[in-house]
Amino acid sequence: METLRITGGRRLRGAVNVAGGKNSSLAIIAAAALAADVSTLENVPHCRDVTTLVEILEALGARIAFVPGRLTIDARGLTNHAAPYDLCRSMRASFYTAGVLLGRMGRAQVPLPGGCSIGARPVDFHLRGFAALGAKVVTEHGFVKAAARRLRGGLFYVPRSSFGTTTNMMLAASMAKGTTVLQNAAREPEIVDTAVFLNLMGARIRGAGTDTITIEGTDELHGSTYTIVPDRNEGGTYLLAGAATGGDVLVEGMIPEHVTALLTKLEEAGLEVVPGTDGVRVRATGEIRALDVDTAPYPGFATDLHPQMAAMLTLARGTSRIRETVFESRFAYTDELRRMGADVRVEGETVHVNGPSRLSGAPVEAPDIRGGAAVVIAALAAEGETEISKVENLDRGYEGLEGKLTLLGARVVRDGSAGIREAG
Ligand code: EPZ
Repeated sequence: METLRITGGRRLRGAVNVAGGKNSSLAIIAAAALAADVSTLENVPHCRDVTTLVEILEALGARIAFVPGRLTIDARGLTNHAAPYDLCRSMRASFYTAGVLLGRMGRAQVPLPGGCSIGARPVDFHLRGFAALGAKVVTEHGFVKAAARRLRGGLFYVPRSSFGTTTNMMLAASMAKGTTVLQNAAREPEIVDTAVFLNLMGARIRGAGTDTITIEGTDELHGSTYTIVPDRNEGGTYLLAGAATGGDVLVEGMIPEHVTALLTKLEEAGLEVVPGTDGVRVRATGEIRALDVDTAPYPGFATDLHPQMAAMLTLARGTSRIRETVFESRFAYTDELRRMGADVRVEGETVHVNGPSRLSGAPVEAPDIRGGAAVVIAALAAEGETEISKVENLDRGYEGLEGKLTLLGARVVRDGSAGIREAG
């Protein structure tokens, strides 16, 4: 069991490089598995969710080499249509294999996915989407089984602008016969990234980044080379950590336009925000003001930055309110913040934060990826030492977390055994 020990109270200052997008990488690695040959992906973050997807695709027959930053995937041998239960259980993005296998082979047997405990997170939208492409879909014994002699294009309204459903539909429909139109599609930068990569592979996708995506199916996709977009959630986490510690942090390589909602809120809280071509810098200039935040699908305020924002707001003067509209129970982190002295209360879908609190180090856990990041931010701002357990949740989404924080002047030590296993 590994833990992170953080000695708080130091202002974070300096520059860190943003990693490649985790959620973009997961979708794009899945897309590469549709190809008839080899793809090379640059800027892939070395985090646990990526290595888990690598293991899943290897079990399906792909050959993958992953050295820091670069992943090469040879999908020629991908002929197994049944995804492994244990690996898929641990991660939501494992369900992209359903779209891949259905598109590639016309049949898929994929376990119901796991992932962060932040809500019920069913896959009913995905299944309805596959059915709209003509697949016969059944769920039994914990598996989804889907089959179609050949998928055919169709019209599908994506409920709640679901990110994962939009991704899975782009994957499957790229290899369907005919044209698919997705209405109310997700508009995240990672959707655009995935569509751009699929088009490089020979797909014909238009409208990614708008709420209507049109996909003309094709018979074969070929491998390509691509560089993954920077991770706006990782970058946003370091900006919020800098703000919470009264510091001055530049996240190099971060694209300001991907985090407009976050930067607007940081300015409203009284922080100095400097967006530039080299990245985004946020500097604390004095007292932080309380905020009202509603999460929403892109371009709204990202749900993946909600817990980290709440951690920062424990240091703000006044009562803040964060309304979580995407996931119904993304609040486990609030129990941990309370252990550290925060005045945080959950009422329905809203988190109320009274500040500023004098946070003090305590034994806490990382309940999920972003909830874990919130705990780290609170620990950095707290007086004394915080010991964080369940670090594996942080490792699922953050590459080299303690190294980057140390670079910014934090005192962070990882105790315990081995780090992330290299995927071969
Ligand atoms: C993706 O999850 C991300 N995961 C999440 O990132 C992110 O929080 C989320 O999108 C929203 O931006 C990956 O990319 C691997 P959704 P996803 O489908 O695709 C409900 C992180 O920390 N829903 O947009 O699962 C669902 O329960 C993570 O990096 C259904 O009811 O999100 C949620 O309430 C965590 N049925 C809402 O829709 C379905 O079939 C939106 O979910 C699908 C979704």
